[in-house]
Amino acid sequence: MPVKNRFAELLPEITAWRRDFHENPELLYEVHRTAGRVAELLREFGCDEVTTGVGRTGVVGVIKGRTNNSGRVIGLRADMDALPIHEQTGAPHASKVPGKMHACGHDGHTAMLLGAAKYLAETRNFDGTAVVIFQPAEEGGGGGLAMVQDGLVDRWKIDEFYGMHNMPGLPVGSFAIKPGPMMAAADQFDITVTGKGGHAAKPHDCIDTTLTAAQIIVALQSVVSRNIDPLKNAVISVCVVSTDSTAHNVIPQVVTLKGTARSLDAGVRDQLEEGITRVATHVAAAMGATAVVDYQRGYPVTMNDDQATQWAAEVARAIAGDIKTDMEPMMGGEDFSYMLNERPGAYIWVGNGDTAMVHHPAYDFNDEAIPAGASWYAGMVEARLPAA
Ligand code: NI
Repeated sequence: MPVKNRFAELLPEITAWRRDFHENPELLYEVHRTAGRVAELLREFGCDEVTTGVGRTGVVGVIKGRTNNSGRVIGLRADMDALPIHEQTGAPHASKVPGKMHACGHDGHTAMLLGAAKYLAETRNFDGTAVVIFQPAEEGGGGGLAMVQDGLVDRWKIDEFYGMHNMPGLPVGSFAIKPGPMMAAADQFDITVTGKGGHAAKPHDCIDTTLTAAQIIVALQSVVSRNIDPLKNAVISVCVVSTDSTAHNVIPQVVTLKGTARSLDAGVRDQLEEGITRVATHVAAAMGATAVVDYQRGYPVTMNDDQATQWAAEVARAIAGDIKTDMEPMMGGEDFSYMLNERPGAYIWVGNGDTAMVHHPAYDFNDEAIPAGASWYAGMVEARLPAA
């Protein structure tokens, strides 16, 4: 398979880019060095257009095929940002920035998409336009949304989006994909319980906020177990309980609860928001207290289009042979979801082999995955825009 052979040749070069990004991690929208290097390389490859500053620090490159009878545009997306974690890999290319590291492999995603861009600009063996998208701030900053809001879809007239993430535990260079939800909607909530503080030996003169908060924590689990269809998926986790008191003998005036709510479809997501609000406010009222719920919607469900998933799986099979299609969705969040909400497309896992899990200080992207990952990105363009 020609794509694969070319990427075997390009492997040392792509690996060098990857390790350079790894040594110089940047957080959220502050990916100035990384985006600068990406834009510089895209120009070197001879991309027809390179635009920086999309969604603050995103980069978009355009590669026109040999012909454009189809008039169609395929968007390929990678993320560029690192995490506020102190690296413990001991690798020769370890982070040079204390407290920051590429612990999710976005250095690898960026390098693989650069490799695909180089190959596509060299060969142009497709009928239409390839748009390579490098986004900032995947790790909690909503960089994908920022690029969409900056006109990504309309400015470049993108018809389909394809994205990839590495997955530890999956054999290196193999793939996993499924139609429908791949990653969860990731929302968070703050519940402020207010009662009447006072002397802990005189509870009858108080409205006990800690008891009220405890009842709310227990009752919230009934939203998942009693309100959501048992054949659907949802998670509510209360993760922080804090009060304004540090004393053993004071009933606090205010107790704050913080947590996360995860779901795999829009209806369940609405039920979680409604249910958490209903249970918290009414349990508080039953106890004579009040609860104010601030429910904040985060990244939406990462939803693979059925047909696009089949196309993505076919390209992956051509590279890796057998691929995994019976995988379960993950309850983590991913902001490529904002692009998939605009146009059909698919998100695929590429195996990172037997490494530490992402977001762990001992994690490192596996460079052996590069030929497969870069081949898939490039292969999606050639498969969806076949040369006449
Ligand atoms: Ni990631």
